[in-house]
Amino acid sequence: MAAKDNVRESDIDKTSFWYGGLCNICHPGGGFGEFDRDGELYYDVRTSQFGYEKLGKTAADVRLDGDYAEINHMSGALRAAPWDITGVAEPDCLFCHRTERAVSDGKNMNWVWRTATLRSKDKLKDTGGASVPAYAAAATAGQGWFSAFALNSKVPAGKPPMATTLDIDYQPGVDNGSLKEDGAGSLRLDGASIVGSPKDYACWGCHLTPDLKKRGRSWFDESSDVHYAGFNNLNDADPTNDIAPGNSTACTQCHPAGLDHNIAKGNATVSSVRNDTDYAGLRTCRDCHLPGAEKHENAPTPTSDIHIDGHLEKMSCEMCHIPYKTRSAVFAIDNATTGNTIGYPAAALLSADPLDPTDPDKSRWYPSFKWKTDKDGERRLFPIKLLLSVWWGDWDDNGTPDDGHDDTITPIALWRVRQITGGSPIAGTVDDNGDGKPEVNRPEEILAYITAMKGDDSYGVPVATRPVLVKGGRVWFEVPGGGDVDSFDYHAEGVHTESSHPFSVNHNVLPTDQALGATGCIECHYGFAERPSPVFDRLIPISPFDETEDARPKYKTVRQMTFLSPF
Ligand code: HEC
Ligand code: HEC
Ligand code: HEC
Ligand code: HEC
Ligand code: HEC
Ligand code: HEC
Ligand code: HEC
Repeated sequence: MAAKDNVRESDIDKTSFWYGGLCNICHPGGGFGEFDRDGELYYDVRTSQFGYEKLGKTAADVRLDGDYAEINHMSGALRAAPWDITGVAEPDCLFCHRTERAVSDGKNMNWVWRTATLRSKDKLKDTGGASVPAYAAAATAGQGWFSAFALNSKVPAGKPPMATTLDIDYQPGVDNGSLKEDGAGSLRLDGASIVGSPKDYACWGCHLTPDLKKRGRSWFDESSDVHYAGFNNLNDADPTNDIAPGNSTACTQCHPAGLDHNIAKGNATVSSVRNDTDYAGLRTCRDCHLPGAEKHENAPTPTSDIHIDGHLEKMSCEMCHIPYKTRSAVFAIDNATTGNTIGYPAAALLSADPLDPTDPDKSRWYPSFKWKTDKDGERRLFPIKLLLSVWWGDWDDNGTPDDGHDDTITPIALWRVRQITGGSPIAGTVDDNGDGKPEVNRPEEILAYITAMKGDDSYGVPVATRPVLVKGGRVWFEVPGGGDVDSFDYHAEGVHTESSHPFSVNHNVLPTDQALGATGCIECHYGFAERPSPVFDRLIPISPFDETEDARPKYKTVRQMTFLSPF
């Protein structure tokens, strides 16, 4: 993200206005969708003033302000952020609390309408051709209160939708009874249209993409989640008590919230904030299933022999009960080879045989594990899915080449990487492994990129002073004097950077006959048999391609990664 104060265009990446039109579709308003970093409204319609004007500044003063500028991510061109055209995005209570959900083909249409409106930014028009304030109108559009709505058909599949036309109109709400005339010329929301516990579809618009991409989660599918099935009475013999997907409120049974709206969460393994509220209010496996004050009356207590103390001390319930995933997820992203994101799905790096990633059966994949502090304070192994990243940074050793701890590796904004690559691999880059995705991996290729990356961007500023490739736990750099590259293990050197991001796998508890151990103790205790364990010897990708002419993925075993090695 862009800083508030910048001295030149080349320092600016994604600004607040850009965030408003993309990130805000899931990271919603009422904060950075509404107020600048001085606490002023970006644009105040009542006074027709930008926030900076209230502080006595001019448009020229904020030309490079991360709250009031926008860099075009394809051309690198700078413009003033048109908050006066889009308005600002306010908190959107009904997005979660509306009773009637618009679901079509399994899609949360409330999310689609709100998202598409935000994404159109300053280009949104009504059918008469007049400009519509997209950020301000998004919440209303999200409720379906419009008479005309058209999507841009040129947006490629898999990208968030974008609207071209919107006519806000409350008549559809009056027609379906969600809005009532109050006799004084205004409309009021009908009480029955507000629900206290949001339905799963309210959560699933924003959580769907990350859950798919980062974790391969399935929802609204009774065969892949015992709780979705159980909480909606889909397992019992009585079909009349079944709760339909559109009415399921399973998410809030484990993730309740109080009026402070700190939706109960656990101990996230990536980029956590407010660690002081970890597990506050969250209903975990142990809360509902083990005897105690919070035990859920219908949750069976584990009684089979496998639940010995020695196991429950070291392993989380999730470790055994979320044994594998059937939906793909993205395992690696290469932002280095072209400056665009090249994704590697599960099938590229794993297979349904946890010991042989090359097996042609790609119907499922198996997670890795990580030690993490559970709600009761114990450290246990939890299932995770590593996301590997490959990217260019600018390395500054702060004048102390022998001490890694004070080094910084600043990621290079992708718009600037693309100005060097033109969005394609640079000349001489070979797709060594023949997977159809070229990769910058061999030392001579890395060197060619490093040389190119010292070139200027369109503002005449060198893209990097000391470009380095971060990949597979290592930093690749040009040996002083030039002509060669070398690499070091950044963790071993104490350099603070990352190319491996552990996303926790906490959902999709499968029926017990699929749990680890259901087919025998030798799944983990290889000492019982003369063969590797599919759990502790399974292969976990740690780099999507190595530096050889084969460009093969690199793996480690769970045993090597967790230092746990049962007999
Ligand atoms: C499709 C919805 C969606 C969009 C679009 C989106 N995010 Fe997120 N983001 C989420 C969700 C949901 C989480 C947290 C929960 C999780 O881990 O799944 C999250 C988490 C994050 C985190 C915490 C670390 C992490 O990855 O878990 C950061 C930082 C972040 N988002 C930044 C951004 C930025 C910047 C953008 C715009 C480029 C953006 N997000 C766009 C849904 C989204
Ligand atoms: C408007 C989009 C949106 C909606 C609707 C939404 N979320 Fe989120 N949620 C997010 C984003 C974005 C984050 C990450 C915030 C961050 O890390 O800064 C998040 C974070 C979370 C977290 C904490 C994740 C962590 O990393 O620990 C939980 C739990 C959660 N949401 C549950 C829910 C539930 C349950 C619902 C439905 C009642 C819901 N969310 C509705 C966007 C949304
Ligand atoms: C991201 C989704 C989300 C948004 C947006 C949201 N809420 Fe909530 N709200 C929740 C959740 C989750 C609960 C807790 C439900 C539960 O535990 O069953 C809740 C609970 C409540 C409750 C208590 C309801 C009850 O029956 O006890 C009120 C009142 C409330 N919200 C008001 C608001 C208001 C006002 C706004 C807008 C400023 C808002 N909410 C925005 C998710 C949301
Ligand atoms: C059976 C209980 C249960 C249900 C139902 C449930 N969750 Fe969770 N969720 C958890 C647990 C447990 C964690 C992990 C807590 C920890 O250890 O950090 C979690 C973690 C999360 C996180 C953090 C990121 C992640 O995926 O690990 C998000 C976001 C989240 N849940 C959202 C949701 C949403 C949205 C729904 C409904 C679609 C939902 N959850 C349904 C129990 C549940
Ligand atoms: C909010 C309470 C709650 C939480 C939290 C919860 N469960 Fe459950 N669980 C239940 C209930 C209730 C059932 C019975 C569902 C049914 O009626 O089929 C169940 C069923 C199960 C079953 C199937 C048991 C059988 O005999 O078929 C397993 C396994 C299970 N849960 C494991 C877990 C794990 C692992 C977690 C943590 C990720 C967890 N549960 C979190 C309430 C909970
Ligand atoms: C070492 C792996 C492992 C761990 C850890 C584990 N389970 Fe299980 N669990 C199993 C297996 C395997 C079964 C099926 C046993 C059978 O069918 O004989 C099972 C069965 C169950 C059942 C069905 C009742 C029963 O006992 O057969 C429930 C409920 C359950 N587990 C909940 C939990 C909870 C809650 C935790 C965490 C406190 C947990 N399990 C931890 C492997 C595990
Ligand atoms: C999911 C993997 C897994 C499965 C399946 C599994 N174990 Fe274990 N077992 C472990 C781990 C991990 C430990 C702890 C090892 C350590 O502390 O070094 C352990 C420890 C033990 C211990 C020592 C316990 C103690 O109190 O120190 C015994 C005994 C044991 N297992 C027996 C069994 C038997 C019998 C089965 C089959 C019913 C079984 N295990 C299935 C992973 C597993």
